[in-house]
Amino acid sequence: MVSPIKHYQFVAKSLIMSDLQLPIEKRFPPIVYRKVPSGIQGLDTMLNGGFPNRRIILIRGSPGAGKTILCSQFLYNGFMKNGEPGIYVSMEETKEELIRELYLAGIDFRKLKDDEVEFIDASPIRHTPSNTEIGRTKMGKKEFSLVALGEMIKNVAKEREATRIVIDPLTALSIQYPNDEERWPMILDLIEALKRTGATCLITEDLRASRSSGTIPIEDYGVHGTIIMEASERAKGMVKTIRITKMRETIHDDQTRIYEITNKGIEVYPTSSWTP
Ligand SMILES: Nc1ncnc2c1ncn2[C@@H]1O[C@H](COP(=O)(O)OP(=O)(O)OP(=O)(O)O)[C@@H](O)[C@H]1O
Ligand SMILES: [Mg+2]
Repeated sequence: MVSPIKHYQFVAKSLIMSDLQLPIEKRFPPIVYRKVPSGIQGLDTMLNGGFPNRRIILIRGSPGAGKTILCSQFLYNGFMKNGEPGIYVSMEETKEELIRELYLAGIDFRKLKDDEVEFIDASPIRHTPSNTEIGRTKMGKKEFSLVALGEMIKNVAKEREATRIVIDPLTALSIQYPNDEERWPMILDLIEALKRTGATCLITEDLRASRSSGTIPIEDYGVHGTIIMEASERAKGMVKTIRITKMRETIHDDQTRIYEITNKGIEVYPTSSWTP
């Protein structure tokens, strides 16, 4: 009699063999790949067409570098040029503050309806420090708020069929959770919730926040791409530079390029290299 182990080895081998005989498209789900343009011409040139579809990108920049403007152009152009609905999750500013600032930088969000770009004001999440009891579980109120935010983003994304999402800025959470051990799981959970929406997502962060702990920030591992925006003081005034430090699934420009903030938003000059 054939031993049970031999029998199972035989069955497993036949299964693998029969699987291998299938055409490749039956063995693997189809790979759908497309680029999601930001609509900022110079940046799309640097990205070789745009951001990789359905991926999470971290925009890390110095204060006032133009992170909010860049992300807003991504959402605004997304709907105006491509008809793609979006969601703006603001962790710091109210809708009114944001509309005013963006209008002055040449991006008129008043032209967009809620079902075109939905605004979620998540700024109160920064002010919920005490503990609370939810059902039988005792948890920090701030943790609950984040779980709720992830859920809310998922639901709104489904309802609006949003394909572009912005979280601006993640730094608000970094301040609320200064301890890495506490902060990392929160951020990874939020990134997981974003991944499940199937949208292309931009998250902003203050450059200084990630430098302060002295370790490589976990966000670098959790996200698919990182872009650094820096406004630095030079003898002749401020110089603004942009660099793609990581972007999975695409070839991209690896040089530091110059950009300006004009009254039509951000303009990137993809042919002018910057050497400090
Ligand atoms: N109309 C304008 N013309 C030229 N530059 C402008 C205009 N409006 C804003 N700016 C520039 O944009 C910067 C603010 O852009 P933005 O709010 O996107 O920066 P940020 O990186 O999000 O800043 P923060 O770190 O405060 O969130 C200002 O510091 C200024 O240099
Ligand atoms: Mg900002």
